[in-house]
Amino acid sequence: MANVVGMVTTSHIPAIGRAIARNLQDDPYWKPFFGPFERVHQWLAKVKPDVAVVVYNDHGLNFFLDKMPTFAIGAAPQYVNSDEGWGIPSLTPFRGDPDLSWHIIESLVAEEFDVTTCQEMQVDHGFALPMALLWPGGGEWPVTTVPVSVNTVQHPLPSPTRCYKLGHAIGRAIASYGRDLNVVVLGTGGLSHQLDGPRAGFINKDFDLMCMEKIVSEPEALTRYSIPELVELAGAQGVELLNWLIARGVLESPVTRVHSNYHIPISNTAAGMLVLENRA
Ligand code: DHB
Ligand code: FE
Repeated sequence: MANVVGMVTTSHIPAIGRAIARNLQDDPYWKPFFGPFERVHQWLAKVKPDVAVVVYNDHGLNFFLDKMPTFAIGAAPQYVNSDEGWGIPSLTPFRGDPDLSWHIIESLVAEEFDVTTCQEMQVDHGFALPMALLWPGGGEWPVTTVPVSVNTVQHPLPSPTRCYKLGHAIGRAIASYGRDLNVVVLGTGGLSHQLDGPRAGFINKDFDLMCMEKIVSEPEALTRYSIPELVELAGAQGVELLNWLIARGVLESPVTRVHSNYHIPISNTAAGMLVLENRA
């Protein structure tokens, strides 16, 4: 039986990719961001995941505004990362797990989540940088991957409630998968940030810290916000919190908080990181 060992959520700011390429992890600007990932590496060494289900949002590499699925799942043998114009080097292609992907897709569609299925899929910084943070050093990735792409870009966006329920459905799909696998769930993006418009640079520390607390102890509380409320409170791109909520939905409550970190700012963004272990 496949088993969800826990979740890791982290921001996916493109500048992280440049910092990795230039080996700036110990630089005073970057140390407060990269330093705490050492504990995440220790946790990963303990829980030994075989697969990462990565919940993220594509920013225009694979999906553009002309065709924007609300939820899309990769079912490819491999996922390639490419240049997005941010000046971040592309990474070693990621190994897929088509059998698990199709199992999740079939289970979701049977539960009336009519997801887009992608047998070819490029993955952008929202997917690739969290992977590089968790498994640094380049070379072959030690886990296979299932990308779950969520529209946090072009309105209308899925509601927080819908996202949380999708997480539960992914959790049930994984639990009903016959192979003995340890699965880690990643939720990427956030926390508060806004990249353009009059509120560019907007960060809301109080709201972020409340979210980091509630997502552990009472995630349902975060599903009560509407999308316009989230945009107002977290910024236009802060709605990437939806990816965290889906990841949290995959875990069964209650959970144990293993690690967390919050540091502002990295680039224009409040960088949040959380590791939760499944107690069920
Ligand atoms: C930044 C943050 C993001 O989430 C993103 O997708 C692109 C840029 C930033 O703060 O620079
Ligand atoms: Fe983003």
